[in-house]
Amino acid sequence: MKTIFVWGCLLAVLIGPCMSDIYMHFPPGSNNRLNGNLDNVKNAARIFDSQNNGKAGYNVGDKLDTNPADNIPEYRQLPMQFYMGGCSADVKTEVEIMWTNQHGTGPKTDDRVESQIILQYMCQEFPDYKFPNGELPDKANVFTVFAINTIRNGQTLPTQAFTNGGRENTFIRNDRVLHEPSNYYQSYIRRDRNKGLFTADQKLGGDQAIFTRQNAGGQRRGLEVPEERDYYPYWGPTPWNDIAVLVSNKKTEEKIKKYVDSSEFGFKYLCIMPTKLTGNVDCPPRNKDNVREEKCVAKYITEKSCKEGGGEWTKFITNYLEKTKGILSTCHTVGETKLKRGLPYEPHKISQGADGNVQFVLSPKKPEVLFAPSTTVNHNGVNMEGKFSTYKWKVPCFPSNTTQRCVLRIRYNITTEDVKREFDASKNKEVLNNPKTKAVDGKTDLQLALNTAQVGRTFQDRSHVIIVKPRNLLPEKFQHSNIYYIGEWEREETSCRLIPPWNIASLLND
Ligand SMILES: *[C@@H]1O[C@H](CO)[C@@H](O)[C@H](O)[C@H]1NC(C)=O
Ligand SMILES: *[C@@H]1O[C@H](CO)[C@@H](O)[C@H](O)[C@H]1NC(C)=O
Repeated sequence: MKTIFVWGCLLAVLIGPCMSDIYMHFPPGSNNRLNGNLDNVKNAARIFDSQNNGKAGYNVGDKLDTNPADNIPEYRQLPMQFYMGGCSADVKTEVEIMWTNQHGTGPKTDDRVESQIILQYMCQEFPDYKFPNGELPDKANVFTVFAINTIRNGQTLPTQAFTNGGRENTFIRNDRVLHEPSNYYQSYIRRDRNKGLFTADQKLGGDQAIFTRQNAGGQRRGLEVPEERDYYPYWGPTPWNDIAVLVSNKKTEEKIKKYVDSSEFGFKYLCIMPTKLTGNVDCPPRNKDNVREEKCVAKYITEKSCKEGGGEWTKFITNYLEKTKGILSTCHTVGETKLKRGLPYEPHKISQGADGNVQFVLSPKKPEVLFAPSTTVNHNGVNMEGKFSTYKWKVPCFPSNTTQRCVLRIRYNITTEDVKREFDASKNKEVLNNPKTKAVDGKTDLQLALNTAQVGRTFQDRSHVIIVKPRNLLPEKFQHSNIYYIGEWEREETSCRLIPPWNIASLLND
């Protein structure tokens, strides 16, 4: 009886009127869209695994294209632009991130799921000598102005190409979208998955970190690593910097706070091997000379197995803003950023940075751990306070004043009552696909449509490319002002589709 009740409830949670889940409205989330005028997202595997409804998402901004065809050259796109935060603690730039999520969040929700919202960003220098404003010149040719790993929206719809073990510059295409670099994905295809995780009765297609309970077949979507997508905190290094984790209950709050407050926060390990190592695939070839790289990632995910296998357990510093590059090596603390010493994680390299030098990097303020705004179940709109769910992101300061290309990422993770957070591989036999049971009368046979890939689920949205510009491009008198960006949002609804015309207002206040 109890079982039926709980499952019945779970089904109600999973099958909403439009089975959708998290949408970022400001900055506008793509939900894997690029451009075009059709209702449905054309390639839901373009950049990341959203698990969202295909009717949602915003097109990339453009320079008044009259024909919204699917393909749009990068130079016709108009990325949102924000000025960096000031480098002293009292000068800030605030972007109010707005989203809606369909199931409950927050301490007051009436939903029976426990959930978190995780906000992150990824940034990359767009060297100022080339494009001081971050704007591409008219007719810019992406094959010459972009590097292989430049963060980009792409100008065609297909997913970025990838060849396992291949030479990166033979498969990566500059006209396709790229967030995570291919050597990051390559490293995790080389690396074992965590076999202690709860996978229910899902038959995972292999032993690498691309196979998870939610993605048992290891389908690739963009160059996102499925295991990293599904789990937070993640045990391996990632290109994502944390902004905030918004939780729903005390227990998870304590758990995440403990992680964030630890002195080890930001440090992650990989097992690094030489070109060849028994039991591992040889390192991939380098772009420059097609010779196999001297260091790359081995399959082991623990210190013990790494050492026993002949690898080197290597500590990386992640979650940093910039390397100090000499010019900043004498600064101690710049505003809320801190100087930390370590081996910088460099996800675009085959070595993942293992062939670099230990040095100082600038680390941003640690992520905030807060309670999420409380929302009503199955209401993909304003929260219980009648407002949009928002978080005020303090845009970081990149002290070298180099224009950055960035992407914002929001994830929404739900844990249902019958598959608890504590569950690990030892509970795999307890939750089965389409289980057979008896109806309330105790006689009638029932089979429940339960998909164990979806008991506990992660949803996601990401922005298109955002340009973060240095404040020294502003008139002198505004360089030390607080800047607030406020999204203005109009809603026009046809089934689940939200049509863009958003506006942006920035206030300068000195
Ligand atoms: C989602 O919740 C599960 C627990 O149910 C946890 O193991 C996982 O790390 C969480 N994932 C994310 C992305 O927060
Ligand atoms: C960066 O710009 C800020 C604001 O204009 C200025 O105060 C600072 O000196 C600049 N830093 C560098 C390294 O140029």
